[in-house]
Amino acid sequence: MDNFIFHNPTKLIFGKDQLEALKKEVPAYGKKVLLVYGGGSIKRTGLYDKVISVLNEIGTEVTELAGVEPNPRLSTVHRGVELCKSKGIDLVLAVGGGSVLDCSKAIAVGAKYDGDMWDFAVHKAAPKDALPLGTVLTMAATGSEMNGNSVITNEDTKEKLGWGSKLAYPVFSILDPVNTYSLPKDQTVYGMVDIMSHVFEHYFHKTTNTPLQDGLCEAILKTVIETAPKLIQNLESYEHRETILLSGTMALNGVVNMGLAGDWATHNIEHAVSAVYDIPHGGGLAILFPNWMKYNMHHDIPRFKRLAVNVFNVDPTGKSDEVIALEGIDALRSFWNSIGAPSRLADYEIDDSHLEVMADKAVKFGPFGNFAVLDKQDVTEIYRMSL
Ligand code: NZQ
Ligand code: ZN
Repeated sequence: MDNFIFHNPTKLIFGKDQLEALKKEVPAYGKKVLLVYGGGSIKRTGLYDKVISVLNEIGTEVTELAGVEPNPRLSTVHRGVELCKSKGIDLVLAVGGGSVLDCSKAIAVGAKYDGDMWDFAVHKAAPKDALPLGTVLTMAATGSEMNGNSVITNEDTKEKLGWGSKLAYPVFSILDPVNTYSLPKDQTVYGMVDIMSHVFEHYFHKTTNTPLQDGLCEAILKTVIETAPKLIQNLESYEHRETILLSGTMALNGVVNMGLAGDWATHNIEHAVSAVYDIPHGGGLAILFPNWMKYNMHHDIPRFKRLAVNVFNVDPTGKSDEVIALEGIDALRSFWNSIGAPSRLADYEIDDSHLEVMADKAVKFGPFGNFAVLDKQDVTEIYRMSL
């Protein structure tokens, strides 16, 4: 293992009817709250009314920022920063999916910065201060509820870039599986693909002696694989929503990757696609990850064999390691197909006309990937395999 320090400051408040916790958490940070939410799902489900009612009960002064886009935009971040500065906001409260949370993180750091928040995304500056951020999560996917990462799209430059800071961890996150019941099947599937992809990003690493970390990764993958088909048959199953919600948090809160550096190339490759075509992140990953695997499996066949046998129950008898490894990747593709995830860029009507543009975006900061280092040509080839 590599040396590491683990410090995750987010208070995770998990389970049924936990919204009540707002009564205790919010006043700890002040009276003036910026309530940030998306395109209206929380109004349709009644969650908005519940949040407002709790905030009114404790005498909070609420300012609202509505309409955060999936793949949240820098211009929306700017609007939020303005509101924080002009209203003297004490706490940013994000109610929604990963996009709402990511936008709120950017607002929280932008509110305490004199320049443009985009400076953090392009590594021109690092946050030195932030407003506290609380979250009420409505979708299991990104893990944003318990990490310091955020991904923002600059619509002017058509760039989608991730950034992170220890100042961007939520101070508290409320996760009630009931708040995820209304998530439609397609988004539920994208979320589960994203969760599995986060685990894959950790699982493909070059660090030695990581038996616990690898085992934890496999446990999350097997849990999602077992639960996903049941959940899509019954979107209002408390049990299955609860399992997937916790899986999503555990996949990207720093626990399973203690002491190792995961690959993370596929996320970069996907962000370049959604920067240009504005497709759902999980949909893009479902298309790209099996192709990244096929392209890079020669770097460590035993690792892919282990995935095939331990997670996808591939029978290794009488087969070469390479055949077993490939059967594992095919099993992943079949599994994602079986739950309705897309498998080709053509599913989003993406053809080969912008492959170069996307590859250029992916290599903006140079070659990348810890398990396998990729340059522009490699990225273009993976896009080509995904057409
Ligand atoms: O906007 P509303 O109306 O709320 O609708 C959303 C949105 O249309 C809807 N939704 C969410 N919860 C719902 C619901 N609809 C009905 N009922 C509910 N309970 O779902 C749609 C998608 O929401 P979004 O927040 O965009 O999805 P997700 O959580 O997958 O977030 C995706 C964003 O997170 C970034 C992605 O790149 C993408 O921009 N990521 C963030 C990461 C992080 N912060 O650590 C890591 C990830 O790898 C990822 O890159
Ligand atoms: Zn992701």
